[in-house]
Amino acid sequence: MSGARAKVGVLAPDGNSPKETPRARRLAFSTIDLVQGVVAWLANAGRTVPREYRTYTTSDLLKAHRVAQALRDGDEILDVGCGNAHLLRELALFRSFHRRVGLDLTVPQHLAVPDVELGAYNGQTLPFPDCSYDAVIFGYVLHYLTREHAVRLLSEACRVARRQMILLEDSLPHFSGLYRLRNRLERVKSGILYAGSAGQRYHPARNEQMFLTLREWVALLEALPPVASVRIESLDTISVLIHHTMFDVSLR
Ligand SMILES: C[S@@+](CC[C@H](N)C(=O)[O-])C[C@H]1O[C@@H](n2cnc3c(N)ncnc32)[C@H](O)[C@@H]1O
Repeated sequence: MSGARAKVGVLAPDGNSPKETPRARRLAFSTIDLVQGVVAWLANAGRTVPREYRTYTTSDLLKAHRVAQALRDGDEILDVGCGNAHLLRELALFRSFHRRVGLDLTVPQHLAVPDVELGAYNGQTLPFPDCSYDAVIFGYVLHYLTREHAVRLLSEACRVARRQMILLEDSLPHFSGLYRLRNRLERVKSGILYAGSAGQRYHPARNEQMFLTLREWVALLEALPPVASVRIESLDTISVLIHHTMFDVSLR
């Protein structure tokens, strides 16, 4: 845009050039708007209805929408490393699932999400029989682990999944020096957080070996025998950070 600021206005009757709203009208509008806001705030004072919309962020909702599009109505889904289970909660806004289960190293005592089953596990072996779920999700979990640990968990996911795995990851076609520094800080920061909350169950890598580029992720996933194909979907336009990427992995 050029240096000149666009003027607030309405379209002229000919539909072409915007006609500027007179200054007095704009002032009247702003004043009424302000007074209306105060009146509405007073009218709502003491209202006890939970303000549910405040518990969502736009970026998380858009991401859940993308993940939901990769899933199907009626699916039974497992989210490994679900954290506070926000993705499982948000996914149900876009699809009707038969079952939603979240696992993590620990589950906060008071965490409860309607119709979501939550549980803790040992971080190594998924406590479910073969083919228990249509899809298994890992949301920003695997890059903290060693390659050997991540591959073991992915093999576990292939065992318990009937159709699909979804990975949300920090990945780019190429990591610049600055990005590698960012990844290191992410690993160190999370080490402090998860060692505190999950204790002995958290086994992080000591380097950034699992911050993989897109190509490296595809190679790792395609080397797993049950994997039939990997679809990459960049989430850069809907994420605060541009490295958020979805890997939609189909199983044989
Ligand atoms: C960055 S958080 C992501 C949480 C959630 N998936 C999300 O997208 O908001 C990483 C999570 O991975 C969990 N985690 C770490 N090691 C794990 C393991 N071996 N198995 C499952 N979860 C693990 C941590 O406890 C933490 O909740």
